[in-house]
Amino acid sequence: MVIDCLENYEAMSSRAADVVASAISEKPTGVFGFATGSTPVGLYKSLIARYQRGEVTFSKLTTINLDEYIGLSADHEQSYRFFMQHNLFGHVDVQPECVHFPPVNGEPAAFDDLIRNKKGIDLQILGLGSNGHIGFNEPGSAFDSRTRVVELESSTIRDNARFFEHQRDVPRQAVTMGIKTILEAHQILLLASGANKANAVARSLEGPQTENVPGSCLQSHPNVIVLLDEAAAARLTTK
Ligand code: F6R
Repeated sequence: MVIDCLENYEAMSSRAADVVASAISEKPTGVFGFATGSTPVGLYKSLIARYQRGEVTFSKLTTINLDEYIGLSADHEQSYRFFMQHNLFGHVDVQPECVHFPPVNGEPAAFDDLIRNKKGIDLQILGLGSNGHIGFNEPGSAFDSRTRVVELESSTIRDNARFFEHQRDVPRQAVTMGIKTILEAHQILLLASGANKANAVARSLEGPQTENVPGSCLQSHPNVIVLLDEAAAARLTTK
């Protein structure tokens, strides 16, 4: 695991864009896993700028998203499809038929089959929940879990209420890529920024590997890059 602590969110996002853009240049036909939430927004802005300067193309990529709320239509402003369209896909040359989300109605296992048929994910981008979740694999998720429907923890509902008018509007369920599927990605890029992530970062990177802290599963992956800002790195003992 390579852990890099950058000065602030902008520096973290720009370094993340370096990693993703160079992975795309190395494998323009690759399978890239995307995350939603506040954390990767700066990365996506930076990728859009690079695309506009002609430095990167998404035209041959396959994209796979980590998770999706259940109960929101695809055009709902808080659906993760809408988020990706608004924050990245709608601004670059990704081919709509190459964009994939875990199925909100269909058979979750079909998503793992799709990833397997594509020969796995080349680079999976992850954010980290303040409770240590990755994707919507909440604490207690089995390390051998696959894509499935999950109930969101009340802390996740509270964290995500900032995107909705009322907390009661936040969906209670989501479909998420499982931990085992995430761990099968050839490379993982974990991003975390802000003081509210410091505890989850320290427990994920330096604590015991336990299903109570889903992010701690990443310690067993052979090819993880972690990019943090100073606030998120504050509780790490190794600097
Ligand atoms: C989103 C996802 C979640 C978020 C996490 C952090 O696709 O899978 O695990 O990465 O909840 O969210 P933010 O970045 O909003 O703090």
